[in-house]
Amino acid sequence: MASPTQVDLDPVYLEQPEAVICEKIAQRKQELGDSLLILCHHYQQEAVFQFADLTGDSLKLARAASQEKSPFIVFCGVHFMAETADILTTQEQTVILPDLRAGCPMADMADIEEVEYAWDELQAAVGSAKIIPITYVNSTARIKALVGERGGSVCTSSNAEKVLTWALKDGDKVFFFPDEHLGRNSAHALGIPKDQVVLWQRDLPLGGNTVEQLKHAKIILWNGYCTVHMQFTPEQVEIWRQKEPEIKIIVHPECCHEVVVKADRYGSTEAIINAIRDSPPGSKWAVGTEINLVNRLSQQFPDKEVHSLSPFQCLCSTMYRIKPGYLLWVLDNIVAGRTVNRITVAPEIGAKAKLSLNRMLEIC
Ligand code: 13P
Ligand code: SF4
Repeated sequence: MASPTQVDLDPVYLEQPEAVICEKIAQRKQELGDSLLILCHHYQQEAVFQFADLTGDSLKLARAASQEKSPFIVFCGVHFMAETADILTTQEQTVILPDLRAGCPMADMADIEEVEYAWDELQAAVGSAKIIPITYVNSTARIKALVGERGGSVCTSSNAEKVLTWALKDGDKVFFFPDEHLGRNSAHALGIPKDQVVLWQRDLPLGGNTVEQLKHAKIILWNGYCTVHMQFTPEQVEIWRQKEPEIKIIVHPECCHEVVVKADRYGSTEAIINAIRDSPPGSKWAVGTEINLVNRLSQQFPDKEVHSLSPFQCLCSTMYRIKPGYLLWVLDNIVAGRTVNRITVAPEIGAKAKLSLNRMLEIC
């Protein structure tokens, strides 16, 4: 299925001052009223985020998409989020991604052909053992469909432990896609011994494991990762603790295990926001997640000190592709009766992917 490519915008959308573009977005929003719903992930830049009707982490936004009835949903996030929204909405609703280049490198690390091949290899190696697939929501609709038709579930950063527990009640093993780190951190939280958690390296036969290792394993982790969260290191945690002994460290579970075990807390973007909001005035936080969220937290809670865990700007460059000019362009088109950048999942894939998404929504 060839995906459409992003067209070049008329320079008017890129060259006007941001304040002018934002004023026009506000006008378009007013004109479209209830027929438009703008969903924004927490990593969106401020100039776009201010127009959100609803904001959230991946779970909250997926739930919103399954419940809201607006005919036009403009998703300010990345491609897999818009696909998820399309799967969970009705055929009459239109889901739009303002810039089609807003993908997720982690989701692209689980290619459907590679995963299908690995699944058959793993099943042959472990004989009759029952494998349950789980995919992080940061995956393509085709991966969610594979998981759905094999009896598995989607998970997000806020429910991965619950979904793993559910899977291990019925299955002997879990094949977890595509984020190694969310899988490892969740398995650790559930007390699964290290030697029962193995890594499946995409380019190696049996993922680089022996048949014995795979038979012994409870969790088999696909070796995908988030390029943004891999920039946080255990050394950064130590530096903050030395500099500010009373500081609390909170990180996203896409960070590697060495960072998560050193932190005071970890959780989804929504959990990070709640932890900081609920902390007493004067609290100090170093946060291991995307910089737009960290900067927003620091602005929203001036009575607290909120820093990035990293001294470098850990920006999700694909989330950052959703610029105000692109948002205005899609809204102008809706007002003119045209639809641009519609995200549609083929019905046969969508139906199977919905099984795995609905399983998650039921488990949680
Ligand atoms: P959450 O907002 O669900 O924690 O996910 C973070 C993320 O990486 C989105 O791509
Ligand atoms: Fe993907 Fe990481 Fe960006 Fe999230 S932050 S969209 S996982 S690259």
